Amino acid sequence: MDRNLALEIVRVTEAAALASAGWVGRGDGISADQAAVSAMRECFDGISCRGIVVIGEGERDEAPMLFIGEQVGNSEAPEVDIAVDPLECTNSVAYGRPNALAVIAIGPKGSLLHAPDTYMEKIACGPEASEAIDLNQTVEENIGRVAECLGYKIAELTVVILDRERHDHLVSRVRKTGARIHLIPDGDVSSAIAAAMPNTGVNLLMGIGGAPEGVLAAAALRCVGGAMQARLVPRSQEERVRAEQMGIEDINKVFNIDELARGNELMFAATGVTNGDLLHGVMFRKDGATTESLVLRQQSGTRRLIKSEHYFKPGHPVTILDQ
Ligand code: FBP
Repeated sequence: MDRNLALEIVRVTEAAALASAGWVGRGDGISADQAAVSAMRECFDGISCRGIVVIGEGERDEAPMLFIGEQVGNSEAPEVDIAVDPLECTNSVAYGRPNALAVIAIGPKGSLLHAPDTYMEKIACGPEASEAIDLNQTVEENIGRVAECLGYKIAELTVVILDRERHDHLVSRVRKTGARIHLIPDGDVSSAIAAAMPNTGVNLLMGIGGAPEGVLAAAALRCVGGAMQARLVPRSQEERVRAEQMGIEDINKVFNIDELARGNELMFAATGVTNGDLLHGVMFRKDGATTESLVLRQQSGTRRLIKSEHYFKPGHPVTILDQ
């Protein structure tokens, strides 16, 4: 793909972030999510591509927009697969917590795993430790090997884990190794990417989060040379069947990063909604707002951190702030 579509797509994540940021702390995740979805959907029409949503807001009958299989863009070439999460971390916006993003990954047709809406066990880190992680090895071995590759003492390594009861055992094992832990209330897309980037203060993501979020993170990690492995963790027989219907024959399979996001033409754009491990959230001013976005392109390896100043006109969607 000659064009860096992500540089255009970032306008879509910015629009979603701006629209949902007005709902920060208002206790209404549904409205925050709807605002992000509508803004993203509307903005997509202006993008020159023929995109098919492969990871989106759900199936056609349960999502009015950005449902799996929906075509987005203005129907012109290139033909691409699109994974979207208009508002990753709905609760973080509703309750004013960190790590919320508006996020999109793009790749040629067939490049993004059609992940079912279930859980996924993940381990992710940066390029220097890419050979060190292995989901089939113990927590202790992974931590030891990653620390060694990074040239850290174990006590200098920071592992990021979603703060969930299901991770109590993981947390106590990590503690016993002597590694530091950064517990996050939500948002393992942001933290997986942060673990692969320099100067973020986190080095390794471990634990179980959403499977669609896993594919979004994998696309970003491939753009920055990071590493990730993942295994589906279905919560019910229904989810197992759904995974099978989506072409996953072995539910226990450990996916390597290049099976989650294939090829070498992946692109990624994310805009912060609330402050997080990776990006600053939307900051409102009297006459507008500032956004911070990360734009990645695998082909060139370019990482762009884009700070944009937006000026609102009367009647702009962000005037929900006046409601
Ligand atoms: P949502 O915005 O879909 O709620 O995702 C937030 C999130 O924290 C993800 O980052 C993570 O992968 C997933 O939820 C974990 O799921 P759960 O909240 O059920 O533990």
